[in-house]
Amino acid sequence: MKVARFSKIGFILAAAGSAVGLGNIWKFPYITGEYGGGAFVAVYLITVVLIGFSIMIAEMFIGYKGRSDTVSSFEKLAPKHKSFWKYAGFQSMAGLMIMFFYAVVIGWIFDYIVLSLTHLPSSVEEAQNTFTQMAHKDFFTQFFYLTVAFMIVTYVVSKGIKGGIERLNDYLMPLLFIIIGGMFLYSLSLDSFSKSFEFMFKPDWSKLNSKAFLVAVGHAFFTLSLGMGAIMTYAASMPKDSNLVKSAFWVVVLDTVIALLAGLMLFTFLYEFGAGPDKGPGLVFISLPSAFYAMGVLGNFFAVIFFIALAFAGLTSAVSLVEPMVQYMIDKHLYSRKKASIVMGLVFYFFGIVTILSGLDGTKEYLTWGGSNFFDWVDFITASVMLPLGGFVMSIFVGYIVPKSEVESVLKPHLKSFFDVWYFNLRYIAPVALFIVMLNMLGIIKF
Ligand code: PHE
Repeated sequence: MKVARFSKIGFILAAAGSAVGLGNIWKFPYITGEYGGGAFVAVYLITVVLIGFSIMIAEMFIGYKGRSDTVSSFEKLAPKHKSFWKYAGFQSMAGLMIMFFYAVVIGWIFDYIVLSLTHLPSSVEEAQNTFTQMAHKDFFTQFFYLTVAFMIVTYVVSKGIKGGIERLNDYLMPLLFIIIGGMFLYSLSLDSFSKSFEFMFKPDWSKLNSKAFLVAVGHAFFTLSLGMGAIMTYAASMPKDSNLVKSAFWVVVLDTVIALLAGLMLFTFLYEFGAGPDKGPGLVFISLPSAFYAMGVLGNFFAVIFFIALAFAGLTSAVSLVEPMVQYMIDKHLYSRKKASIVMGLVFYFFGIVTILSGLDGTKEYLTWGGSNFFDWVDFITASVMLPLGGFVMSIFVGYIVPKSEVESVLKPHLKSFFDVWYFNLRYIAPVALFIVMLNMLGIIKF
């Protein structure tokens, strides 16, 4: 039985901390750039509102009612076939798997904090070389910063929900909002802002191919931290009289606002000081540092606080990626929190090293299958397959398996007349949409 619970605001900050991560500030801008801007953003926003928000409420409901780790929560709530439904709880393994590469990227960010303090690359070419040198040739630097990330995350998780996770979020999330908000305000004063705005909000539907559509849906899940038990595990420690709908609403709003502000700001800087928007995963690590360089002294300052904000966003998500498995080991296998945190930490640390090796010249050929390396495979299997699958399972579970009266008793007081709309969506729209997405991702059906 758990004793230490989140405070109400602590829960919202922690869940928002989970949601607002590298997905918002690193991934969202570059996939928006890659897939053509406005139309892509529109699909992402529609998915967030129609599917993401509904599934977020369902996932919080399972955790809030189950009050346990993910496996035990499914087991408790299933009226029958408990030993079957408990397997749904293994979606929390996806979080640990995401950490195999997430921790490595957090390490890169640490490296870039130091780089911005010492020497910003002066051109896109130099920035490209700097990044290539680190990611493809330099094992030691990556290993060193991965170790730092491993130690911080493991330490925070070992301190528990209240003393570790809530505390971390209480400090880092407000700072993150201030940094991103401040930099956004500055970008408003630049001429290129209107161009950036147009790029993100003026849809050119001809650019929306089926791949872009699928990536937008997958990203909506990833960015909201849905489908792998993070939100569920946090919700198990919500105060008893919490309003789930209001909490879900705030998490979705904060996550979306930060993604949009970060996107608008980054594209403004890129248009104003350097390269265009379509630069792929290197956008934040390659184009942006050279744009900061072109900005002069202010750019140096921005570079440092930007990478610090990115590190904060990454760390508050990372703890939520590990926590579900830690909670599972505590509840189901009676590990102490310290032992569970260290064991799970060592798992992602070890596979983090594999991720590093899969990008290095000399070792990558051994860790590449079918044209994609270990990093790409883990990213694909988790974000494109496991998270939508987790979402699908939760919509079926809450929509069909848990008795309606039980769902109603928790959610109707807050959803009021929207309850029926939400329930209908959860039963008919979300699962069908997710099923189609998964089939597509697996390449079974092609549009
Ligand atoms: N939502 C986080 C991000 O946008 C990533 C994440 C996914 C965290 C799933 C927890 C669970 O970076």
